[in-house]
Amino acid sequence: MAERTPLLLLPLILSIFVSIGFQQVQCFEHKAVLSLQRFQWKELKHVSVCLPQQSRKEKGATILEMKRKDYCSGQIKNWDETLQNRLVSDESRVKALQTQIKNKMSSTSRITGLSSSTQIPLKSGINLQSLNYIVTVELGGKKVTLLVDTGSDLTWIQCQPCVSCFDQQDPLFNPNMSQSYRTFTCNSSTCQTLSMSTGNPGVCGTDRPTCNYMVSYGDGSYSRGELAREYLNLTADTAVPNFIFGCGRNNKGLFGGTSGILGLGRSQVSLISQTSRRFNGIFSYCLPDNEDPSSLILGENSSVYKNSTPITYTRMLLNPQLSNFYLLNLTGMTVGGVNLQAPGFNNSGIILDSGTIITRLVPSVYRALRTEFLKQFSGYPPAPAFSILDTCFNLTGYEELEIPVIKFGFEGSVQMTVDVMGMFYFVKADASQVCLAIASLSYEDEIGLIGNWQQRNQRIVYDTKKSKLGIAKEICN
Ligand SMILES: *[C@@H]1O[C@H](CO)[C@@H](O)[C@H](O)[C@H]1NC(C)=O
Ligand SMILES: *[C@@H]1O[C@H](CO)[C@@H](O)[C@H](O)[C@H]1NC(C)=O
Ligand SMILES: *[C@@H]1O[C@H](CO)[C@@H](O)[C@H](O)[C@H]1NC(C)=O
Ligand SMILES: *[C@@H]1O[C@H](CO)[C@@H](O)[C@H](O)[C@H]1NC(C)=O
Ligand SMILES: *[C@@H]1O[C@H](CO)[C@@H](O)[C@H](O)[C@H]1NC(C)=O
Ligand SMILES: *[C@@H]1O[C@H](CO)[C@@H](O)[C@H](O)[C@H]1NC(C)=O
Ligand SMILES: *[C@@H]1O[C@H](CO)[C@@H](O)[C@H](O)[C@H]1NC(C)=O
Repeated sequence: MAERTPLLLLPLILSIFVSIGFQQVQCFEHKAVLSLQRFQWKELKHVSVCLPQQSRKEKGATILEMKRKDYCSGQIKNWDETLQNRLVSDESRVKALQTQIKNKMSSTSRITGLSSSTQIPLKSGINLQSLNYIVTVELGGKKVTLLVDTGSDLTWIQCQPCVSCFDQQDPLFNPNMSQSYRTFTCNSSTCQTLSMSTGNPGVCGTDRPTCNYMVSYGDGSYSRGELAREYLNLTADTAVPNFIFGCGRNNKGLFGGTSGILGLGRSQVSLISQTSRRFNGIFSYCLPDNEDPSSLILGENSSVYKNSTPITYTRMLLNPQLSNFYLLNLTGMTVGGVNLQAPGFNNSGIILDSGTIITRLVPSVYRALRTEFLKQFSGYPPAPAFSILDTCFNLTGYEELEIPVIKFGFEGSVQMTVDVMGMFYFVKADASQVCLAIASLSYEDEIGLIGNWQQRNQRIVYDTKKSKLGIAKEICN
């Protein structure tokens, strides 16, 4: 029995975590009904090479195909380990974020009167291991596959000649082979804006007056190199001339075979700001619940979306200390139609983050959610907690589940209904340990995060110019 189990579980594990193939048979307003019986067995076709992603232009919007990183990091040998590591790296991302936020809050309150060079707030302190999505673009005529990060700003790739580079699938970029490659000098104004967007000022190179950048992330990964500009071709007919990026000569970290980072944050140097005249500062995505490709859409033409409910917009909060995050005002939550009461609402905001997996709520809000959820999702045998997840059930043998619907409420009466595929995290493939995929932060003064598990099957529209965020229901697969 013990020897057969892994063999039996493997396809089950693959399909649960790769394409949780539940069939939603019915959906009422306050309850979602799932059939656990009928899994859609989808084979995971792992490729060991990152195939370039497709891109296209449609109705004035530029659409980049976006895939999960797993797709190009080779065969996964041990799924249990992968799943555990995923939650561990998720937790270290959240810890790094909270530390970064605390540093910013305290350093800016102490900053007045001190020389800014000694008190520069750390801007990029986010753990990168959990970044999941990749896109392929063309820089200086060469294809580069990059990790998408809404939590950082400077785009960079690994470059020749390289002092230290991690393994990547694409050939290393060689600036010598490009006619359009230009560097910035360290006295240029672009070089001087680096401390705003990376937390580290641009400095002069040792032998040449080129601008050298440095970005470091909370998990020990970093990239250093020269600040440059180059033709960025998003699609064959969407060229961004003079795109500012980092040509990294000294890079370290786990980047899953990609060539670097595509920064979609809010500061001046991010792709979104650099292309704001063309795309009006608007981008959007829809994250599927399986391995199907999704898309990163630059520019707005809502006719390219496939949303099934109207897009409603909520204001992005402008907290000067957290200006590079997408921060929203969480005004309330409901579980199965019941309003939750907690002091943690209406306070300091919640960050929408594409790189965090599991949503984190401040303790008072999480407690209220857990209590109400357990009240309504009753009669199911409990299972032990797993890592950060403490609301777990043994659902072995159940054919159908009635799950209370969870909704987030944001300022402006905007609601985000968590899709039925974003409710649970399967720790064991035989369903003997299935957990509510939402966790608590340790302290009430930390900042909550809405992770990508709960963003599944939603159209999320970032309008950075009007500083608002749009949400609508959409089946992304
Ligand atoms: C959006 O698409 C529609 C339909 O193709 C087109 O008529 C309209 O001009 C587009 N709008 C923009 C802003 O490109
Ligand atoms: C990138 O765009 C520029 C400007 O439109 C164009 O000259 C160049 O040929 C494009 N490169 C590729 C590889 O398509
Ligand atoms: C690029 O050209 C410069 C100057 O000609 C040379 O010093 C450098 O070694 C070349 N780098 C590569 C990677 O070929
Ligand atoms: C930067 O320095 C170079 C030479 O060191 C000089 O030619 C240029 O005018 C300077 N630019 C600015 C904006 O100061
Ligand atoms: C948050 O504020 C709004 C508007 O004042 C109010 O309607 C809502 O009940 C508040 N939320 C909570 C949970 O107190
Ligand atoms: C959030 O919205 C509520 C209701 O409009 C408001 O009372 C509260 O001040 C807002 N919170 C923040 C941080 O802006
Ligand atoms: C889960 O429940 C099933 C069916 O009730 C039971 O046979 C099994 O032992 C339970 N598993 C665990 C790990 O508790």
